[in-house]
Amino acid sequence: MTKPQKKLGILTSGGDCPGLNSVIRAVINHAVLTYGWQVLGIPYATQGLLDQKAIPLSIHGLDLRGIDPLINMGGTILGTINRGDTLAHFDQIQAGYQALGLDALIGIGGDGSLAILNHLANQGSWQFIGVPKTIDNDIALTERVVGFDTAVNTITDALNRLTFTASSHDRVMIVEVMGREAGHLALHAGIAGGADVILMPEIPYAIQDVCRHLTELRDRWGRRFAIIVVAEGAKTATDSHDQQPDQRPSCGIGQYLASEIISCSAYPVDVRVSMLGHIQRGGIPSALDRLIATAFGKVAVDLIAQGQSKQMVAWQSGQVVAVPLEAVIAANPLLVTPDSQLVQTARALGIYVGSPAHFSPIVLDKEE
Ligand code: F6P
Repeated sequence: MTKPQKKLGILTSGGDCPGLNSVIRAVINHAVLTYGWQVLGIPYATQGLLDQKAIPLSIHGLDLRGIDPLINMGGTILGTINRGDTLAHFDQIQAGYQALGLDALIGIGGDGSLAILNHLANQGSWQFIGVPKTIDNDIALTERVVGFDTAVNTITDALNRLTFTASSHDRVMIVEVMGREAGHLALHAGIAGGADVILMPEIPYAIQDVCRHLTELRDRWGRRFAIIVVAEGAKTATDSHDQQPDQRPSCGIGQYLASEIISCSAYPVDVRVSMLGHIQRGGIPSALDRLIATAFGKVAVDLIAQGQSKQMVAWQSGQVVAVPLEAVIAANPLLVTPDSQLVQTARALGIYVGSPAHFSPIVLDKEE
C-alpha cells in the first residue's frame, strides 16, 4: 500500500544556534525514509514563504560523495532572520504557503518565533509543529532546548582559558555573556567554569556587594584574581543601569561593571573585559545538542504523521513529548528562579550571585 505523499516544509526562525542543522537532518531522513514525504526547506524563516521560495531537501545531504555534513554543522543551511513585522504580512505569507503546496510545516524557533508561527498557523489553518531552540534556554515546559548545551560549553571553555591569564596577572576578569532577560547561560557556565561572581537579570546585584566579595576573596583566601560572569541584561536594584536596553550604556554591561568596580574597590584593581558575543551562537553542536536535535526532529515528523498540530516537541523526564504551543506561549519566558537549586548551589560554593548578599562560607568561617 502506498503512503500518501506529503509536502512537508521546514524553516528556522530567530537567532541561530548550534544544532539547527541536526534537527533539519533528522526531519529530512525520517520524513523521507519512514514516510516517503517530500521535504522543502523554506529559506530565511517566513521570508521564504513571503517570497514563495523553497529548496527541495534530500537525504544525501549537501555532499555529492554521500557525506552528510548536517549532523555537526553550526548555523542553519536554511538561513534565518530575527527581525521584521511578520504578522502584518499574513496575507502574503499565506499565499506563499499555498503556492508552495505545503501540507504541513515544522518551525524551529525560540519563544518569539514560536509564538508568531503559532499565530500564523492558527490564522492560516496550517498543520504546524514547533521545535524549541535557543542558547538562552528560556522556553517553558521543556527541560532541554537545542543550542543551549553548546553555548554553555563555549562559555565554560572561555572561562577555563581566562582563568589562567587572570591568575597570572592578578586580574579581575569580567566575561559578558548573552542573556537579556534570562540568566541560565551565565548561571550554568559560571558554575561549570568556576566563576567567583555570577550576575543575572533575574537577581539584582549591588556593586558594593560585588566589591566586598572581591575583597573577601583576596583578604581571607589569598585569591588575587577573580572571574566575574555577567549576563548582558544583569541589573542592580537602584542604578540607572537598570533601564530598558536602549537606555543602557552603549559600552555594554561588562565595561560598565569594570568602571564601577574600579571606583568602588577597596584596593587597586586591574580589570579586563571579554565580551563573548556571537561566539556563543557559533561553533559545531555538542553531542548533547545533536542528540536533543535528532530526537526532537524525529518526534516532530511523527506528530505530523499523526495529524497533530500547534504542538511543540519538549523534553520532559528523559522523553520527548508534545505540549500545546498555547501552553508554552502562556508560560514563557522561563527565567532563573532566585531560590532555585542551582542558585543555592552557587551560593553554597561561595559564589556571589546577586542579592541577598551572601558570602557563605567565607563570612561564616571566621578565624581569629
Ligand atoms: O535570543 C538569543 C540571543 O542570543 C540573546 O541572548 C541575545 O541578546 C540576542 O540573541 C542577540 O541577537 P542578535 O543576533 O540580533 O544580535
